[in-house]
Amino acid sequence: MSSRYVVFVTVCLLFIVAVLFAKFKASQQHQWQQDEEVHSTEIIYQELSVDAPIQPLPVVKEYDVAWAQLGKALFKSPLLSSDNTVSCASCHDLYNGGDDGFPVSVGIKQQLGTRNSPTVINSVLNFRQFWDGRSPNLESQTPEPIHNPMEMGTNWQEVIKKLSGQPGFVKSFNAVSSDGITADNIIKALVAFEASLISQNSPIDDFLLGNRSALTLQQQRGYDKFVSYGCVTCHQGRNIGGNLYQKVGRLDKVPAQLLDDFGRYELTQNPQDKYVFKVPSLRNVALTAPYFHNGSVDSLSDAIRIMARGQLGLDLSDEDVADIEALLQSFSGELPRSLAE
Ligand code: HEC
Ligand code: HEC
Repeated sequence: MSSRYVVFVTVCLLFIVAVLFAKFKASQQHQWQQDEEVHSTEIIYQELSVDAPIQPLPVVKEYDVAWAQLGKALFKSPLLSSDNTVSCASCHDLYNGGDDGFPVSVGIKQQLGTRNSPTVINSVLNFRQFWDGRSPNLESQTPEPIHNPMEMGTNWQEVIKKLSGQPGFVKSFNAVSSDGITADNIIKALVAFEASLISQNSPIDDFLLGNRSALTLQQQRGYDKFVSYGCVTCHQGRNIGGNLYQKVGRLDKVPAQLLDDFGRYELTQNPQDKYVFKVPSLRNVALTAPYFHNGSVDSLSDAIRIMARGQLGLDLSDEDVADIEALLQSFSGELPRSLAE
């Protein structure tokens, strides 16, 4: 056998192996994409786009009312916690900004968590969930508080057993799915509800869509400053935040109270991720005091000063702070429609 022949056969074999490997990877990729879609909720948004660094919220055109209503009932049900004392709504009060008003949240047995409860209103629009972005979407976020021993401290088996003892829930689950009460369906319902929580018709959106008089003159000054000082380099897009990660501050100018938590570094152990958090959405921010990942700042004006100094190296005048605070008031929208229905 000539050595040329051996080389030829070897090259052919290598080629076949490479093709098979590529096919295998592609099928894995496909499988993964399918898994991601399993729980997708049937909700139709109409995107609105304008030529500005912040964008209006999309409009909820259609959503599955039966799934969302079931999700709302689950969201309010303490049966999702081990001792039936805590519901999602305990820490996310949808009628008061979608957070809980405490610096850090209180779970079962009065246990204190370590982070401030973010609002769930509009959270479907965030590129990742949680302060450190550890969940890629609402589907993967939902089981976390249910299993967290500091929050609801239970498991699917227990939750399904308790819900199965409630004729109202049995009926509602059977009405939307032949599988009845399963972990997947609990997640699907909660996500269908959360995806419908868009706080429409805020003055800022009305303004962005062309109605100048939707903002007061002071708010318009605040808008110009929010843009020109550079708040929009981080708080941008349709959720006025929630679409990138950033480091908290030029460290020497950030108050020590914000440096209690390494943020994404806890997950990645990458030194560059120290103090890096998901930039929070500023929608409804006037309703969600106290502020920051640990709820250590009570007033919005202090939060604005800390941001200007820590993130932009600017010492704002009292007038600047007042103008920007007035603008942030205009980020509050209406109660989502699905709450009233
Ligand atoms: C004991 C209080 C508590 C309970 C109960 C609770 N949460 Fe939360 N939730 C929090 C806190 C605190 C965070 C932020 C934690 C972090 O980022 O590390 C959070 C984060 C979230 C987020 C991410 C929001 C964002 O923009 O990043 C969503 C969505 C959410 N919770 C939904 C739920 C749902 C659904 C339930 C019920 C199944 C629930 N929560 C139960 C306290 C709670
Ligand atoms: C370099 C990026 C960056 C810039 C610029 C920036 N922010 Fe922030 N902002 C963040 C991050 C990151 C957080 C979360 C920090 C934390 O919780 O520790 C945050 C949090 C906030 C909060 C608290 C929100 C909440 O729900 O607790 C407010 C209010 C805020 N920013 C307003 C502003 C204003 C006003 C400006 C302009 C003066 C500004 N930010 C500029 C990145 C930025």
